[in-house]
Amino acid sequence: MKKSKFIWLDGELVEWDNANVSVMTHTLHYGTGVFEGMRARDTDKGTSVQFLDDHVDRLYRSAEAYNLEIPFNKNVISNAIKEIVKVNNLKSAYIRPLVFFGDGEMGLLPQNIPVRVAIAAWEWGAYLGDDAGSKGVNVCISDWQRISPKSFKPFAKGVGGYMNSTLAKIDAVKQGFDDAIMLSDNGTVAEGSGQNIFIYKNNQLLTPPIETGALGGITRKMVMEIAHHIDIPVVEQDLSPADLIASDEIFFTGTATEIVGVVSVDSNKISDGSVGEVTSKIRSKYLEIVNGQDDNFKNYITLI
Ligand SMILES: Cc1ncc(COP(=O)(O)O)c(C=O)c1O
Repeated sequence: MKKSKFIWLDGELVEWDNANVSVMTHTLHYGTGVFEGMRARDTDKGTSVQFLDDHVDRLYRSAEAYNLEIPFNKNVISNAIKEIVKVNNLKSAYIRPLVFFGDGEMGLLPQNIPVRVAIAAWEWGAYLGDDAGSKGVNVCISDWQRISPKSFKPFAKGVGGYMNSTLAKIDAVKQGFDDAIMLSDNGTVAEGSGQNIFIYKNNQLLTPPIETGALGGITRKMVMEIAHHIDIPVVEQDLSPADLIASDEIFFTGTATEIVGVVSVDSNKISDGSVGEVTSKIRSKYLEIVNGQDDNFKNYITLI
């Protein structure tokens, strides 16, 4: 990780190496925090944060879902996100707001514990590798099931839930795959370990509904808008592992991942095993939007 100079911590700018917490931090013991993953880019108009309001709204929804009362209003957090990119002189960045219970008491009932907020930003390239955009990725179907809505609130980005994602990711990489697709309680496709998933078949895009336990991804929502813009119908419906193999194209979506073709599943090639045309078209449009090159979507980026 390429360290930046400062981290925003509870309203102050603190030097990166001094932004530390006690080992008795509640969230370290029980996973009781929530977070966001965001990007800022070096656009023609200047460094801009993409989908700022969507991410801040989801951070508050996640916090509410897991009983964390953020001690700052949305305006303060939005400004802090912009500030942390600016003070670190970052032209482009990955941004990680984290809301967590600090230290004070132990035990599962978090009481008399301050809710703390950290926002870090650093330079981070393509999550699945520099070649992923052009060559696509090879994935497996994980033996680990995606967290169930009966056990967690998968619509929220809760820290503890990511133990499930890391199990799937580690297993996939150990087997030589780039990433994993996780199934729901019902055995239908939910999503990737840290990405939503779409398939293209019979001239339409299909994606699993959020009820499968998939995160309500902001890139997923953007892809739906792009598809609408270029006249490709999108249907939210349950997909089986067999639907994946029989599809014309598959792609992952996510802030860190961006839009990346999935070219094989469990070593079965999807179509001819290269990134599909529709995937490439949607990826290009997405990159145009987040880089501020399409004025139809200019409200989605915020200059810092
Ligand atoms: C489990 C999971 N699903 C999907 C996504 C994609 O969400 P977004 O597009 O909002 O980054 C992420 C990324 O944060 C994720 O962690």
